[in-house]
Amino acid sequence: MTDKDILTRPIGRSGIEASAVGLGTWAIGGWMWGGTDEKQSIDAIRASVEAGISLIDTAPAYGMGLAETIVGKAIAGQRDKVILVSKCGLVWHVAEGTYFFHQDGKPVHRYLGPSSIRHEVEESLRRLGTDYIDHYVTHWQDATTPIADTVGELLRLKDEGKIRSIGASNVSEADLAAYLATGALDAIQEEYSMVKRDIETSFVPTCIANDVSILSYSSLALGLLSGKIGPDRVFAADDQRHGNARFSMGNREKVARLMEVIRPIAHHHNASVAQVVIAWTVSQPGITFSLCGARDPGQAIENAGAARLHLTEQDVSTITAGIREHLVDLDR
Ligand SMILES: NC(=O)c1ccc[n+]([C@@H]2O[C@H](COP(=O)([O-])OP(=O)(O)OC[C@H]3O[C@@H](n4cnc5c(N)ncnc54)[C@H](OP(=O)(O)O)[C@@H]3O)[C@@H](O)[C@H]2O)c1
Repeated sequence: MTDKDILTRPIGRSGIEASAVGLGTWAIGGWMWGGTDEKQSIDAIRASVEAGISLIDTAPAYGMGLAETIVGKAIAGQRDKVILVSKCGLVWHVAEGTYFFHQDGKPVHRYLGPSSIRHEVEESLRRLGTDYIDHYVTHWQDATTPIADTVGELLRLKDEGKIRSIGASNVSEADLAAYLATGALDAIQEEYSMVKRDIETSFVPTCIANDVSILSYSSLALGLLSGKIGPDRVFAADDQRHGNARFSMGNREKVARLMEVIRPIAHHHNASVAQVVIAWTVSQPGITFSLCGARDPGQAIENAGAARLHLTEQDVSTITAGIREHLVDLDR
């Protein structure tokens, strides 16, 4: 196998090409995921790159800089192999915009004012140990700053070579329209997986019509779709999955029934069910990239393998029918 076997796609109209399966680093930041292990995380990132994955998604908010710092250490000496995605707009250096949550005892606000973005990008570049970010994303939207002002600053950063393309995440339909009006949007980043498909009827048609890529996040539904969450899996109290309705026993049983539909397809392709889940995700119209978190090299290598898996149209329609049959009335 060579890197040529890896499915790659362009990010919007930026001319940047990245692996359709991306490595997500939220869990690597530890926050909301029961902590992190730096060495294991670095090994996971390096294993992912070694397995041909170029797209790495991170954010300052993932452990208040910790995920970015770990990514920076992992990619040192191989920056050219990686398409780095990072984000702005969840801030703790100022208390402007709208209060969102507390992390490590500090209030975090949603704020996308131009001078704050400039501060954030410099901090991210320092933590990541690089002088450019390939895809820079507004993480959550800020009702107090006009989107045109935010994009104006992002375009200045692009002119200066500090960022190479522009994305927006967790947008409303009105936000998306405002970003499209600037003509500068390359991609949106939204939750999408077999258990959460609402963007198929909202954002997908608009994005296809405007050449805007979609990076789907939580593509494994926080691990529920990994094929490894049985009835006995227990989550630590500081893991967001603890007490989360998505991981109810009823949902686990429904997912297990879907996995029985997926298993023969996985077997036929000599793949795992998680790989088939990810390959199904990037086979959906308009879903350009699938971001999947991984905490150790085993998960990273397994998920990377999905970028080499080619499902047939029959596979995809069998799985989609299985989703329709088994994933009804999920606990949310
Ligand atoms: N823009 C946004 O607002 C936003 C929001 C969420 C996520 N994201 C991005 O999208 C990325 C992916 O989403 P996510 O991390 O939330 O959820 P995800 O990819 O659905 O799930 C990740 C978790 O599933 C488990 N897992 C992954 N691969 C596995 C495998 N092969 N076998 C067994 N378990 C496996 C791991 O947890 P355990 O080992 O602990 O079970 C891992 O931490 C994030 O890391 C982040 O970069 C962005």
